[in-house]
Amino acid sequence: MNIATETIHLVTAIPGPRSAELQKRREASVPRGVASVLPVFVRRASGATVEDIDGNQLLDFTGGIGCQNAGHLLPEAVRAIHEQIDHFIHTCFMVTPYESYVRLAEELNARAPGAFSKKTFFVTGGAEAVENAIKVARHFTRRQAVIAFEDSFHGRTQLALSLTGKSKPYKAGFGPFAPEVYRMPYGYCYRCPHSLTYPSCEVECARRLESTFKRYIEAESVAAVIFEPVLGEGGFFAPPAEWFEVVTSICRKHGILVIADEIQTGFCRTGPMFACQHFGVEPDIVVTAKSIAGGLPLAAVTGRAEIMDSPGPGGLGGTFGGNPVACAAALEILKAVDTLDLSERSRHIGSMFESITHDWPGRFPFIGEIRGLGAMRAIELVKDRFTKEPASEQTRAVLAACHRRGLIIISAGTFGNVIRMLVPLVVSDGQIEEGLRVLEQALAEIQEKGGSHQ
Ligand SMILES: Cc1ncc(COP(=O)(O)O)c(C=O)c1O
Repeated sequence: MNIATETIHLVTAIPGPRSAELQKRREASVPRGVASVLPVFVRRASGATVEDIDGNQLLDFTGGIGCQNAGHLLPEAVRAIHEQIDHFIHTCFMVTPYESYVRLAEELNARAPGAFSKKTFFVTGGAEAVENAIKVARHFTRRQAVIAFEDSFHGRTQLALSLTGKSKPYKAGFGPFAPEVYRMPYGYCYRCPHSLTYPSCEVECARRLESTFKRYIEAESVAAVIFEPVLGEGGFFAPPAEWFEVVTSICRKHGILVIADEIQTGFCRTGPMFACQHFGVEPDIVVTAKSIAGGLPLAAVTGRAEIMDSPGPGGLGGTFGGNPVACAAALEILKAVDTLDLSERSRHIGSMFESITHDWPGRFPFIGEIRGLGAMRAIELVKDRFTKEPASEQTRAVLAACHRRGLIIISAGTFGNVIRMLVPLVVSDGQIEEGLRVLEQALAEIQEKGGSHQ
């Protein structure tokens, strides 16, 4: 086995013998609930490439699930991490603070949407940031209820899971869930919950927020509405701008806070620093994580200063929140956003994706929709374009065919029928072409095996 293209270089079948051996040990020692997408164990990674312990070089279109927008091992971040480790690794910001935490908070306050005064604090992961955003919103409004959306994903801890709108595999068997969480359909036009068509629908889905107040929970008890500006795990769908206008104006009318979960969409994934900027949304609170610190565990809750200052001393925080090594890396990631112009890079990747894939729907009848913003791109597969029956098995088969060819790529979608691209934004044009060529071959392979039932 010796397959070499520009980046991908396979010297063994995937997985190679060393990875296969380790996978057996993994299965014996790690619970199966921790998913295993690609049983290929990593030796090193750089930019948009991953080398496994068998010496195979793979092309990474997943970036640790959206954590490597600035690329694996951004040299400036690596240098800052080393330097920080030589000084101190942990003191707990709540006990003896350090400047990098404050500087990073200042940076995020300045960059988050909205020309109002903001404050930021740090925690260790996305779910914890979501939980804290809800805590702050409840404390400030003195209200308890939260409205979240179908097809959403907000994390795996109990409150974040309660907000999440996908049962299997995330919620099934893990109840009871947190109280005072209410749900309404998202603006997922491809699968319109009301069987209407945009724009003649006049974003009925968003207007339903008012009837949610009549049917399920009175507006005066609602602390916040939380949404992802583009569905991540739910299938990379962005509602039309009017959806955001209607939802936020209804929230404002009733004194309900708007929380944007930008954990997957932030840090230029969709083009601008935050996806909310596409739609002119100025959330009261925005949560970020994933690509914030080049792969180190860090997450942020940023919001209007008066809201963020509602809880008293000790009400917020955590032992490891805003770890100095992660903060040092995050400051370099923010510099890279500017110096590498990751926003422009993201837009460029998006337009390459559009021009390369534009004729795919004509060639592959099981493609239902190709969509996305900037470099957050996806392909939804269906068994039938009219019924839109999700083609989950075919999606799994396409991904497996990509993996065999050395392309790391994963699925999304409530029905597991969406192929999603979260490629590091430092990827070269040649690597984008190469990765999409592999995806095209995989689609063709599955089509030949009978993937299409148009
Ligand atoms: C939109 C969104 N919110 C929250 C989370 C949870 O983040 P974490 O896995 O860091 O807890 C994720 C993770 O995929 C996400 O995509």
